Amino acid sequence: MSDAFVSLQNLSLAYGKTVVVPDLNLDIRKGELIALLGPSGCGKTTTMRAIAGLMSLHGGSISIDGIDMSRTPANKRGIGLVFQSYALFPHLNAFENVAFGLRLKKLPKSEIASGVEAGLNTVGLSHLADRKPAEMSGGQQQRLSLARSLVMQPKVLLLDEPLSNLDARLRLEMRTELQRVQRDTGITMVFVTHDQSEALALADRIVLMKDGLIEQLGTPDDLYNRPETAFAADFFGFENIFNVSGSIITGPQGSAPINFKAVDGHLAWRPGAIKIGNGSHQGTVRGVAFAGEQREYVIDCQLGQIKASVSADEPAHEIGTSIAFDLPKAGALSILVT
Ligand SMILES: Nc1ncnc2c1ncn2[C@@H]1O[C@H](COP(=O)(O)OP(=O)(O)O)[C@@H](O)[C@H]1O
Ligand SMILES: [Mg+2]
Repeated sequence: MSDAFVSLQNLSLAYGKTVVVPDLNLDIRKGELIALLGPSGCGKTTTMRAIAGLMSLHGGSISIDGIDMSRTPANKRGIGLVFQSYALFPHLNAFENVAFGLRLKKLPKSEIASGVEAGLNTVGLSHLADRKPAEMSGGQQQRLSLARSLVMQPKVLLLDEPLSNLDARLRLEMRTELQRVQRDTGITMVFVTHDQSEALALADRIVLMKDGLIEQLGTPDDLYNRPETAFAADFFGFENIFNVSGSIITGPQGSAPINFKAVDGHLAWRPGAIKIGNGSHQGTVRGVAFAGEQREYVIDCQLGQIKASVSADEPAHEIGTSIAFDLPKAGALSILVT
């Protein structure tokens, strides 16, 4: 078959009679970092639980490294888990937290010691081996839980929103850390997030999910620059999306002509692609927010609401003033699928 290391085939997952993942097909390559991305409730955690063996399958199969694991118990799948809540043992120090799984394997003492040392070293925590979790920062605890999984040498590491409990700065640090660990260890990782910037920054490929289905699968560049559906476009920042037919676009409030020819379907613009101050469209400033280098505008017009983002060096337009704007051909994304 293909070069799939983890293969989900016609996977369907349900809670009782409620099917939340109807038919998922996904091949993950060895050494790949794949992100499952999507809004809350779209089935990311459920999919992870199934891969990990924490829930039984409603249908389909899961294989890892060529072996059907669909009915293999969780502890025999060779999978490591890192969750948003660190699930560390509070009464054990860092060394013992990492050693725990190795002790269960009844490895010789010297092997446990060297394994733990290597694990703590990988995540940059060797100097904190004696600390208990409560004496560590959130980022350090998350790195500890990563080390604890890594020392078990899993074939696949599943990370479910591992960064969402961290503050913005630590999140960025941990991102870099995760990338480094993945490059150093070459371990196959499945990373769940609802944050598109996290997925863009980390993943080799992104699986964008909606209602338990794959909306689009591709590289970060594919999803950011070539989203194929209105949902994907919206998720990746094309916040102004309209139906287009001929040279007429239609929004929730009404229609307006555009001054170029587009393929029928949808047309979408990022806020930064919209020019304000002049152009053939007219609206009223409904909101303006200073965002450092940019000023973000909400403009009411005959189409509905437009979001525009312009350099903060430009003079500000006040709320309530009427304003001209342009929806230029440059920066317009054409979406054929609906
Ligand atoms: N234990 C459960 N029992 C019943 N329904 C559940 C359970 N866990 C999750 N669900 C439902 O399954 C769907 C997918 O949930 P989940 O996989 O947790 O989403 P995500 O991780 O993408 O936020 C949601 O509609 C959620 O309400
Ligand atoms: Mg979840």
